[in-house]
Amino acid sequence: MNVIECKGICKEFAVGGQTIAVLHNANLAVSEEEFVAIVGSSGSGKSTLLNLIGMLDSPTSGSIVFGENEVRSLGERERALLRNQMIGYVFQSFYLEPDYTVIENVEMPLVIAGVPKKERRKRAEELLQRVGLSNLIGQKAKLLSGGEKQRTCIARALVNNPKIILADEPTGNLDSLNSAEIIDLFRSIAENGCAVLMVTHSTEDAAKADRIIRMKDGCLSDEAKE
Ligand SMILES: Nc1ncnc2c1ncn2[C@@H]1O[C@H](COP(=O)(O)OP(=O)(O)O)[C@@H](O)[C@H]1O
Ligand SMILES: [Mg+2]
Repeated sequence: MNVIECKGICKEFAVGGQTIAVLHNANLAVSEEEFVAIVGSSGSGKSTLLNLIGMLDSPTSGSIVFGENEVRSLGERERALLRNQMIGYVFQSFYLEPDYTVIENVEMPLVIAGVPKKERRKRAEELLQRVGLSNLIGQKAKLLSGGEKQRTCIARALVNNPKIILADEPTGNLDSLNSAEIIDLFRSIAENGCAVLMVTHSTEDAAKADRIIRMKDGCLSDEAKE
């Protein structure tokens, strides 16, 4: 069963009176429990694709099917609900609230979803244990190392029990040891039933995914794994 499927996605941007085509007929499906890496040079359209799949933007043409929902046919409220409940987002630059504690950051999506405080705490604690941060739950986010910040973000992304994690260059600000830990975490997340779609520059990180897709000038192609 596919978590997401993109069919014939095209994306154009209007820039200074001109139209530039960034994605050309992109086709991609990610199934449950799959860890997929998208690689490609800077400016090739990777973040654009991830933003479309994450419903942060809409394609110019083509179809995105999320579970059983054709995204185009959904209203703004339904999309917001899917984003909150079905998708976990992880970014290179973390986007944590610096003055909030680790656990407050992880609880944030549950606050938005209206989950009672006791239940929020319990769920956030479970996830922080899973990402190996039980000892830092009361620490302010701004005092964490890069690797700890990204593990906090992954706990936050998992807190609503999503179907897929979308990660855009999640190891872009990390050294190789911390990167390897983050990738191992993604592996175990996928094995536990939440798909992971990750954009990366690192061939080392991509090699640990189940499947590698190459983006070149807005076109996708499967890459044979070595
Ligand atoms: N909102 C936007 N408006 C205009 N051009 C954009 C916009 N977003 C991305 N682009 C352009 O689309 C191309 C692909 O960008 P992006 O998806 O960020 O690439 P990547 O993530 O692979 O580095 C780039 O040429 C970028 O300048
Ligand atoms: Mg990018």
